[in-house]
Amino acid sequence: MKKKLVVLTGAGMSAESGISTFRDSGGLWEQHNVEDVATPEGFARNPKLVLDFYNARRRELIAAEPNAGHRGLAELEKYFDVSIITQNIDNLHERAGSSHVIHLHGELMNARSTGDPSLVYTLSPDHPDIKPGDLCEKGFQLRPDVIWFGEPVPMINEAERITKQADIFVIIGTSMNVYPAAGLLDVVRKNVPVYLIDPKDVYTRRYDIHHIKKGASEGVKELTKLLVEGITQN
Ligand code: APR
Repeated sequence: MKKKLVVLTGAGMSAESGISTFRDSGGLWEQHNVEDVATPEGFARNPKLVLDFYNARRRELIAAEPNAGHRGLAELEKYFDVSIITQNIDNLHERAGSSHVIHLHGELMNARSTGDPSLVYTLSPDHPDIKPGDLCEKGFQLRPDVIWFGEPVPMINEAERITKQADIFVIIGTSMNVYPAAGLLDVVRKNVPVYLIDPKDVYTRRYDIHHIKKGASEGVKELTKLLVEGITQN
């Protein structure tokens, strides 16, 4: 029976794929006003601005590739029952081969009906844009299938259920600023080892975290050595 390895990832996981983070210097929230592009109010005020913001990010994602960190996590499925809980809306974990990925904040490659949230459509790389006037089958405007600030996070219960089962918990590339995602660390069982991969220090309430102070690609390599050696020696 493989041990359960649960990995919480954030924007830093995709930084080495060329996708900008949010709160690093030069991050997305320095160039854009969160209220204008990542809230329901912003979308109601100026839908075209918001649609164009996500169209640009979608085109950037289509041109990006998974990095060695994404691939390394997919490789760990050989040794562990791996669940990825990501705050990222990109599909780089899936494209690297991870088979169990939960998107807490939605998926950039999906469009959702504004009138019936159960209507979700996968956008193709050939037609990646959502424009004003693009409607669902019931005639409602389409929007990005992402969770904006102030909106509920429907996947959080499933994420907590999985986190409680973790035998090992790993945090990669998140400043742990945004809840409820950051709160997942509080539901990790006390005796479960926690690893953090981040080039910077990240404040958390747990003091016993093993911090691998590197980027995702190098950090996942080091983590794999630590975890896999632990298995092969036993
Ligand atoms: N490898 C690993 N981590 C990195 C790298 C890298 N190459 N480069 C930067 N980081 C780290 C930063 O040090 C920081 O701790 O990634 C983290 C990025 O933090 P944020 O920009 O705050 O991104 P994130 O934590 O994912 O934001 C959470 O906020 O705006 C919302 O919905 C959005 O999902 C996002 C949420």
